Amino acid sequence: MGKIINFGSLNIDWVYRVPHFVGPGETLSAEDRQRFAGGKGLNQSLAAARAGAQVLHVGRIGPDGGFLRALLEESKVDTRLLLQTQAPTGHTVIQVTPQGENAILVLQGANGCFTLQEMEQALEAASPGDWVLVQNEINLVPQLIQLAHSRGLQVAFNPSPMPQDLQTYPLDLVDLFLLNRGEAARLAGREGSPQALLDHLRQTYPGASLVLTLGSQGVLYRDARQTLCHAAYPTQAVDTTGAGDTFCGYFLAASLQGRPVADGLALASMAASIAISRPGAAPSIPVLEEVLRALSRQGTSL
Ligand code: RIB
Repeated sequence: MGKIINFGSLNIDWVYRVPHFVGPGETLSAEDRQRFAGGKGLNQSLAAARAGAQVLHVGRIGPDGGFLRALLEESKVDTRLLLQTQAPTGHTVIQVTPQGENAILVLQGANGCFTLQEMEQALEAASPGDWVLVQNEINLVPQLIQLAHSRGLQVAFNPSPMPQDLQTYPLDLVDLFLLNRGEAARLAGREGSPQALLDHLRQTYPGASLVLTLGSQGVLYRDARQTLCHAAYPTQAVDTTGAGDTFCGYFLAASLQGRPVADGLALASMAASIAISRPGAAPSIPVLEEVLRALSRQGTSL
């Protein structure tokens, strides 16, 4: 089984419980503030590792980010290419409403300190069959996609947060897109039903598999051979932060383990629904045993 080489962000998430999202010009009292480990990259590495995949995390933290490294190591993520820089660790200010919805402000910090040479060196750790996973919270993402593809590696891309210049990225080299609805619409350059967006993206990127997560409406999947959908598992939303990352990590791990796509969708959907029911991003990500137990309670044995 290959491994996941995740060039991923690591953030310190400052989470504020608010009655509603703060509006322009408004001063709003928060009810509570908590610090959590986060970052789309870290969350996805943790999810994939907790799902049983071998994960090498390539990342950058500042002097204040030691606890993020420790957390990855607790879940058996390989952190030998997680380097400390002088820049502060990336951080976020996250508002969470009573409905569990979030609004996130992110400062890139050390996540923006990659050099091309370091990326090339990190890719020397790759073996045939490995996947490179990347989100959009680090610098040099287009160059990384190009480099990984030129080494014959498969590339999974979660273009979050969406960049203004996405169309300049070498997206035809991506093997797996992991998208939410807003990202799919931006990528397609049009609005439309989820099916219509997938049709459009399939024509534009015929070599890629596409995962389109739709929150409480479930998920759609399409590749050259099949189109699948999976309903979301109902849950009491406490904090949706990191649910998409949990889905991405679990889905990619299942794919590396050679599980059928339908099983990967079930595992990832259940893992995301568990994550939503708990506060914080990284701490909310379940381990595989818990996901399997929850699926079995629903009558699904995997
Ligand atoms: O996807 C959730 C993550 O986005 C949070 O953990 C936060 O760090 C932001 O990067």
